[in-house]
Amino acid sequence: PLPLAFRVPLPLPSVLKPVSTSGGVDRYEITQREAALEILPGVRTPMWTYNGTFPGPTIEARRGRPITVTHRNELPVPTVVHLHGGRNTPSSDGYPTDLVLPNGWPDPAHTMHGMRGMHDPRAVVTRLTRDYTFPMDQRPTLLWYHDHRMDFTAPAIWRGLAGLQFVRDDAEESLGLPAGRRELPLVIADRAFDDHGHLHYPALDPTLRKQPGVREAYVAGVLGDVILVNGAPWPMHEVDAARYRLRILNASNARHYELEAVTDDGRRLDLVQVGADQGLLAAPATHRSLPIAPAERYDVVIDFSSVPVGNRVRIVNRLGSGRTRDVMAFRVARKAADGSRIPRVLSNDVPAWRRSDAARVRDFSFRAGRMHGGHGWLIGGRPFDPARTDVTVPLGDVEVWRLIADVHHPVHLHLVGFRVLSRSGKQPLPHDAGLKDTVSLRPGESAEIITRFDGYRGRYLFHCHNAEHEDMGMMANLEII
Ligand code: C2O
Ligand code: CU
Repeated sequence: PLPLAFRVPLPLPSVLKPVSTSGGVDRYEITQREAALEILPGVRTPMWTYNGTFPGPTIEARRGRPITVTHRNELPVPTVVHLHGGRNTPSSDGYPTDLVLPNGWPDPAHTMHGMRGMHDPRAVVTRLTRDYTFPMDQRPTLLWYHDHRMDFTAPAIWRGLAGLQFVRDDAEESLGLPAGRRELPLVIADRAFDDHGHLHYPALDPTLRKQPGVREAYVAGVLGDVILVNGAPWPMHEVDAARYRLRILNASNARHYELEAVTDDGRRLDLVQVGADQGLLAAPATHRSLPIAPAERYDVVIDFSSVPVGNRVRIVNRLGSGRTRDVMAFRVARKAADGSRIPRVLSNDVPAWRRSDAARVRDFSFRAGRMHGGHGWLIGGRPFDPARTDVTVPLGDVEVWRLIADVHHPVHLHLVGFRVLSRSGKQPLPHDAGLKDTVSLRPGESAEIITRFDGYRGRYLFHCHNAEHEDMGMMANLEII
C-alpha cells in the first residue's frame, strides 16, 4: 500500500567525504552496486545505486578545484557516468560507449555483437573501475551525475543511478542567500512500483543486458504514479518561518512538472528564482509557478515567514492529477530569526551573447520517426550513431541553434551553457532566464539558443533528456575542433 501524502520525512542525501585532498585535487570513490532500499515504508525495493543510496551521495566541489571520482562497477551490466552540466574534458564526459565493464563481462567486441553502434573505434572501455576527472572550472551551480550507457540510460536512471554535485564559490556564499539547513536539495523523480514493491519499468529486456527499448505503449516516455523527493514518496519537511533556498532537480525520465507552493488557506507563495541550470541569474525573478522538465534545475527561494506556525505549504504539480498532483509539503514548525537576504544583483557574469556574435545558425528538428524498423526519436531525421559526426564547431565560435519540436523535448547540450534567445519567434519565457544547459521545447515549438562553444576540443553530445527518447535515438554528436 502506498503511504499517505506528507507523512514520510524528507531525506537529505549524505555528503560524500573525499578519500584524499592532497596535491590540489579532491579524490572520491563511488561503488555502483545493487541494494534493497526502503522507498515505500516497510518495503524493500531492489535498486541500482551509487554507494547504496538513492539519490547517490552528494559531492560538494569548489570552483577551480579539480576532483577525481573513481567509480567501481559492481552492477551486472556495463555503466557510464556523465556529470550533467559539467564543463569536462571528453575523456571524462561519459560518452555512451566509454563503458565500465563489470568483472566477468565478456569483451565488448564479442558481447555487443548484434547491438547497434557498439563497435565504436573511439570508445575507451575500462574494466571494473574508471577515474573521472572534473576540472570544476565553471560557474557555481547544482550538477547531477547519472548513468549514460548507450541505449540503456533510461532504465538505469530509473533503477537509481543518479546523484547530485554542487559547485560553490566564495562570491556566491557572500550573497547572504539562505544556507546551512535552510538550503535544501530536492531531487524530484516519479517511479512506478509493482505489488511486491519492486520498481516497475516496461523494458523489453528486464536484464538490461542485450535488448534495449520499452514496450510499444511507452515509447513517449515512462511515467510513474509515485512522486519521490530525495527518494521518499510525497515527503514532509519541518521548516522555520523563514526563507529557504531550494535546489530543485527534475530527475524524472519523462515527467514534466509545474510547481507551485500553496498554503493551507489557499494562498500561493512566490517562488523567487535566483538560479538556473548553470548558476545564478543576474537578478532574481519571481514566479507564481515554475515549469520544470527532465534534467532542468531551478534555484529558488521561498519565504515561509507569512505562514502561521503549525500550517503547511504544499508543493503541488499543476500538470498532475490525483496523486501525481502532490509533490511534497513543508510544515512551518516555529518562528525564527532570519538573517538571509536576496540581493537585487546576484551575479554579473551571465554571458550576454548577441545574435550578431554568431558565426552561423543551424537548424535541428526533434521528431518521431522510424529506426531499425521500430519506433524512433530522431534529430534532423536521423537516429544516434556514434560513428557519425553530426555537427563540427570550431572551438570558440558562437552559434545560434534553432531547435524545432513535434512534441515535448527537453534538449540538453553537453559541455556548454547557453541562453534562450526566442520561442517560436517571440520572447523567451520568464523561466528561460539565465544560463541553461537544458531547454524545454513545447509541442510544435521552435526555440533559438545561443552559446559559445569553448572549453575543450573533442567529441560531445546533444540530446533529448526525455530519457526514453534519448535511448530511442534522439541524440547526436557534437565535435569541437
Ligand atoms: Cu543528463 Cu547527456 O545528460
Ligand atoms: Cu524528446
